[in-house]
Amino acid sequence: MNTQAGTQHNFVIVGASGALGRALVDACTQRPGVGRVFALSRTAPASLREHSANCQQPSLRDPSSTWERDRGPGPPQSRQEKPPSRAVSQWERSPDRDCPPTEPRWITADATDPDSMAAAAAAVGAEAPRIHRLIICTGVLHGGAADPGFKPEKSLAQLGLAQLQQSMMINAWAPLVALQAFAPLLRHPDGAVAAALSAMVGSIGDNRLGGWYSYRMSKAALNMGIRNAAIELGRHRHGPIVVAVHPGTTQSALSAPFAGPERARPAHESAGAILDVLDGLDRTANGRLFNWDGRELPW
Ligand SMILES: NC(=O)c1ccc[n+]([C@@H]2O[C@H](COP(=O)([O-])OP(=O)(O)OC[C@H]3O[C@@H](n4cnc5c(N)ncnc54)[C@H](OP(=O)(O)O)[C@@H]3O)[C@@H](O)[C@H]2O)c1
Repeated sequence: MNTQAGTQHNFVIVGASGALGRALVDACTQRPGVGRVFALSRTAPASLREHSANCQQPSLRDPSSTWERDRGPGPPQSRQEKPPSRAVSQWERSPDRDCPPTEPRWITADATDPDSMAAAAAAVGAEAPRIHRLIICTGVLHGGAADPGFKPEKSLAQLGLAQLQQSMMINAWAPLVALQAFAPLLRHPDGAVAAALSAMVGSIGDNRLGGWYSYRMSKAALNMGIRNAAIELGRHRHGPIVVAVHPGTTQSALSAPFAGPERARPAHESAGAILDVLDGLDRTANGRLFNWDGRELPW
């Protein structure tokens, strides 16, 4: 572990509602030595919505959550939707009501929106000025049932600007926005690790099959952004270690059309492996791409 012995670790998980994000949140909260766990997502999980109703907490239709109020019915992750910039709103069980206090703290925030991420980082920093692990899980490969036309390209002829732009925004832009917002909280003498979940198929050196233009290109762009940020933040005194991590094929909405349960690991197994990899890193790891089992991968 690269942080000082005895230090309680504060975690921030971005894109926390997805399979890997949610599993990482769960895994963090069960980790020995955990301090605070902040889960950032565009939407609070259903369990908290129910809880919110039971405990008379501000509901997801609270005016402070303008996106939830304004977006109306429809699939939550349609690529056509772009929530407006908004103040952060926080969802947690309140200790002064009947409901017991619970970690993690869920904060609604959209990593594609710098204002939203900055507000989330300010809210986190007010409670935990030192973050020890930032794990960014945003990613898109296909549009699901809401957008069946958004699917990995099999040929150059299928490449289209809209899908490439959307992939770049969620796979490359959003993780860098999150890192930009949280970088000040990652600079401290305890030592910190920031990791973006990338993908093996984003490796240029490993590409032998072709296809999946938008996903591969956007993950390769993410990898370059991570490498750049690692160099820059590594120059700072007490700067974090910054890496990209391939989580391995994991059961999720993202992987479901391409890898069934027989080929994909349960998300909780991948999450535990990722946390172990991050715990094992030292400064020589800065700016590198790692597999879920700790092996270094080629850029
Ligand atoms: N599953 C695999 O086999 C696999 C393999 C290699 C790499 N990965 C990578 O691992 C990461 C997590 O994947 P997953 O399998 O857990 O996927 P997932 O369940 O589909 O979750 C994807 C996350 O991306 C965010 N996201 C999706 N659309 C967005 C949008 N329009 N705007 C902003 N955020 C958006 C969501 O965050 P919110 O919580 O904010 O909604 C969601 O939590 C991704 O980067 C993926 O590329 C996964």
